[in-house]
Amino acid sequence: MTVDPIRVALIGLGGMGSTHLKILAGLPQATITAIADTHAPFTDRAAQLVPNAAAFYDPIDCVNNADIDAALIATADDTHFAITQACIKRGLPTLCEKPLTTTAHESRQIVEAEQAAGQPLVQVGWMRRFDPDYLALHHQLHAAGSGTPVLISQRHRNPLSVITFDQRELITSSASHDIDIFRWLTGDEIAQVSTTSTTSSDGNTILVVITLTSQTGIVGTMELVPWCQRCRSAKSG
Ligand SMILES: NC(=O)c1ccc[n+]([C@@H]2O[C@H](COP(=O)([O-])OP(=O)(O)OC[C@H]3O[C@@H](n4cnc5c(N)ncnc54)[C@H](O)[C@@H]3O)[C@@H](O)[C@H]2O)c1
Repeated sequence: MTVDPIRVALIGLGGMGSTHLKILAGLPQATITAIADTHAPFTDRAAQLVPNAAAFYDPIDCVNNADIDAALIATADDTHFAITQACIKRGLPTLCEKPLTTTAHESRQIVEAEQAAGQPLVQVGWMRRFDPDYLALHHQLHAAGSGTPVLISQRHRNPLSVITFDQRELITSSASHDIDIFRWLTGDEIAQVSTTSTTSSDGNTILVVITLTSQTGIVGTMELVPWCQRCRSAKSG
């Protein structure tokens, strides 16, 4: 028996959207039938790669009107809320790039909308959970005889991209990965959080340190220092 491929709308066609486009194009189980980005050159560029897909310049128009079974959202962080809400309203299974939204209040509204819809519809793109090294760590931690962890320490450096985040964005966009991994590894909910941040005197380096305690008392530390432009220039020069 052959099964028709899932018809997917790919919304957001920048860096991550382009990566998702390549991945989806290689999956026989899926076909991109709609693409959307508010930046017309990106929509037009993607249209050349998937000429049979309907092209939209308004993501909500795409969600409401495209011929699709599911949606993948890879737009800028602060646009996820409205687009995900529209997807839930239409009952579309949705993969939303992290973070789900940029505020706890909006994320709660998404969870409540999904609960009201009566079925799980939204998955957030926490891809580390599928990374072989993280999976091996998870397996080891939960293997017989491993005991209960006391401390989970994570350090985030990113030498591959120039990050212009402020402290808040560093937490919502980057540290959210580490926070997700803490919950996933421990299988526990977070009971306490404290955060410290500082910026170097030249303004080029931001440091964010987060300390978490789980309900059962496991401590998590997360240290984020994005690679700064000046460090990069000094190294390459
Ligand atoms: N999972 C990961 O490790 C990972 C890595 C990088 C980025 N991301 C996430 O993926 C998302 C996209 O990041 P990116 O690096 O591709 O950014 P990007 O800036 O390259 O692309 C974002 C795209 O969204 C489009 N856009 C902005 N507002 C829009 C709107 N209202 N409707 C439709 N399109 C809109 C922009 O025109 C742009 O093409 C972000 O949420 C980011 O946090 C996840």
